[in-house]
Amino acid sequence: MAAPGTSGNSGGGEGGREVWGTRMGFILAAVGSAVGLGNMWRFSYVAAEGGGAAFVVLYVALIFIVGVPILLAEMALGRSTRLSPMGALRAAGGKAWVPMGALFVLTGLLILSYYSVIAGWTVRYAIEALAGGFPGNPGEHFGEIASGRDALAYHLGFMAVTIAVVTVGIRGGIEKAALVLMPVLFLILAGLAVWAYTLDGAAAGYSFYLRPSIEELLNPAILSDAAGQAFFSLSLGMGAMLTFASYLSRDENLNREATVISISDFMVAFIAGLVVFPVIFHLGLQDQVSESTVGALFISLPGAFTAMGPAGRVVGTLFFVALAVGALTSAISLLEVVVSSVMDELRVARRTAAIAVGTIIAGIGVFPALSLDLLGILDQLAGTLFLVVGALGISIFVGWRMKGAEDELRQGASGLFLKVVPAVMFMLRWVVPPIIALVLVTTVQDTIQVLAG
Ligand code: TRP
Repeated sequence: MAAPGTSGNSGGGEGGREVWGTRMGFILAAVGSAVGLGNMWRFSYVAAEGGGAAFVVLYVALIFIVGVPILLAEMALGRSTRLSPMGALRAAGGKAWVPMGALFVLTGLLILSYYSVIAGWTVRYAIEALAGGFPGNPGEHFGEIASGRDALAYHLGFMAVTIAVVTVGIRGGIEKAALVLMPVLFLILAGLAVWAYTLDGAAAGYSFYLRPSIEELLNPAILSDAAGQAFFSLSLGMGAMLTFASYLSRDENLNREATVISISDFMVAFIAGLVVFPVIFHLGLQDQVSESTVGALFISLPGAFTAMGPAGRVVGTLFFVALAVGALTSAISLLEVVVSSVMDELRVARRTAAIAVGTIIAGIGVFPALSLDLLGILDQLAGTLFLVVGALGISIFVGWRMKGAEDELRQGASGLFLKVVPAVMFMLRWVVPPIIALVLVTTVQDTIQVLAG
């Protein structure tokens, strides 16, 4: 949700840059950015590919060992420079670091181009649920709607809304909508998890999801999937959190906010898994899901809603509407990175930047809207590889190059949150870069494989 300063609000902080109206405004925007399709659509299919439980264990570990320090690094850099990524890297590190900022902008551009296609599926499913149900066999149905003319139309519609929000202003609209709909999403999800528990076959789903085998835990391929997913889900590695933090005031407790953001994000993904896996096993959809991994969520959940009878229509509609809102608040953060960079670098007005950049992204999205294979390739390239590279860059930059990073993390912190600062710096320097470097090796191999078809 929410680029501040989009509606000419009067936030005007030091140096004329806007600041968030309230602490809640930032938290909501950051959680809104983090919680999105990644927690449900992507988490369930990547977890399924990664063998379920082993993936989940590594995922949790990586969120706290790698994700939180990088989230803090991005926030420290953004808040201390009060600039969008390219400017922030230039100001804190010099010209040599600007290309990294440019990579961030490119990554945002590419991720949004296919993210919007998937968001379009979500909107379509919401409408179908409302209109009375999902036609036919869920696997076939997904195959029919995932790419082609309709997918393109929904993608363009979704981009139009995203552009409108970033252009016009959000505080009143999106921020309020998200305030209501995100808790609704969470409640529906929790309710669905309880319902899923009662299904036959749920046990097989849980054991796939929650019982790791030791040998898989040591598999570097799974480690690297889990890291890529952690970055994607927490919106890390391309300056989104950096940009949001650039509108943040100095007395905010970064360590506390990072904790709140990561835990909320993880909870949503985890509960989504408690729904998706029992349902997949209950309906015997394992094969369809593994054939179309990208479609795991869109194949399994409609089946669940249909099985619920008339109530499923209401629950299904609410679920997909809320998910579409989650996708919108995430899409806004992706667009905001590119827009704020264009505004800062080229000195153009927000409106011009949002419309121009949004149109370009909508145009790139035509390709993933017409080809599911291309969508998968973009997700691997921009949504995984580039984020891993970006996260590595950020950790090295803030750990080793940026002056005053440690002071920035202390600023506004107190109690335990203040005490952990040296540990965070230690992680950023010595623990995070080697882990990501290891991940990068596998990710490059994966990417080559995906590109080779
Ligand atoms: N985190 C969002 C999700 O889980 C997607 C997203 C928004 C994102 N902003 C990002 C991913 C920046 C990577 C980088 O759906």
